[in-house]
Amino acid sequence: MEYATLSNGMKMPMLGMGVFQVPEAECERLVTEDLETGYRLIDTAQAYGNEAAVGRAIRQSGLAREDVFVTSKLSSIINEGQAVQAIEGSLDKLDIDYVDLFLLHAPWGDSYAAWRALEQVLETGRVKAIGVSNFNAGAVADLTVFNRVTPVLDQIEIDPFNQKKTDVAYLRSQGIVPEAWGPLGQGRADLYTNPVLKGLADQHQKTVAQVVLRWNIQRGVVVIPKTTHRERMAENLAVFDFTLTKEEMAAISQLDEAPADFIYDPDYIQQTVAGFVKNWSK
Ligand SMILES: NC(=O)c1ccc[n+]([C@@H]2O[C@H](COP(=O)([O-])OP(=O)(O)OC[C@H]3O[C@@H](n4cnc5c(N)ncnc54)[C@H](OP(=O)(O)O)[C@@H]3O)[C@@H](O)[C@H]2O)c1
Repeated sequence: MEYATLSNGMKMPMLGMGVFQVPEAECERLVTEDLETGYRLIDTAQAYGNEAAVGRAIRQSGLAREDVFVTSKLSSIINEGQAVQAIEGSLDKLDIDYVDLFLLHAPWGDSYAAWRALEQVLETGRVKAIGVSNFNAGAVADLTVFNRVTPVLDQIEIDPFNQKKTDVAYLRSQGIVPEAWGPLGQGRADLYTNPVLKGLADQHQKTVAQVVLRWNIQRGVVVIPKTTHRERMAENLAVFDFTLTKEEMAAISQLDEAPADFIYDPDYIQQTVAGFVKNWSK
């Protein structure tokens, strides 16, 4: 395993397992298998509805708490009190003494209030580090200027066709670790048939998924691929025994299509934020 060093000195595995869209009923077994396979970073969120199952699997694994790095995420809120209440709710559900990294899931709702709540919980020691998700470089700069604690990490959508080069460069310049969600293109089929990626996979006797994960790790981006298949868990983890050359990294760099980001689409935001407001107003 290779590790990223967060700006507060904590070490974080460069590769972990995400559990988005894993139903609560299957999640405990899946995380148990992840841990048995060798994963030591698990990425969950309030919105995934499976924090309790993640916590159970970790408690029952027999691993020392400090050997597993756990990330969860705060959903959008409309005032600071709700945020503290929601973070405490996650800590109770996970029931693993502390969460290594708590992220603000998206730059929506009252994200300043949410960030102040995360700063507050950070002081209690029940959360060891705080960061953001789905913030572009400008939003990170804005949050940093207006607040006491700078995010240690930003989790954004990154794959070979959506490389977020400007955001990644900015984050690295600020000592903020970039992390890729959807690192395998969320199952996008043309990733696996792309001739450049296939050629590199054949060259290294690796799979396309392994090449894609290795590429991000080599550019300093933490990856959290998700799979429900045990053989793919092992496949995705086996990326620390080969290195892509400078020329191979450059060839993947050419695949970027720099698509417009749905996270900033006004219709999407309006719909999603309206949903949060409705939920919290109940
Ligand atoms: N912050 C956010 O807003 C946000 C949003 C989305 C996701 N995330 C996080 O990022 C994690 C990963 O993202 P994701 O799950 O959306 O997408 P992903 O990891 O890019 O892709 C998952 C898909 O790839 C398939 N897959 C996995 N390994 C494979 C392999 N070796 N060969 C072929 N196919 C493979 C999986 O299928 P099988 O399961 O059938 O193997 C699944 O369909 C999530 O679980 C979550 O923790 C965060």
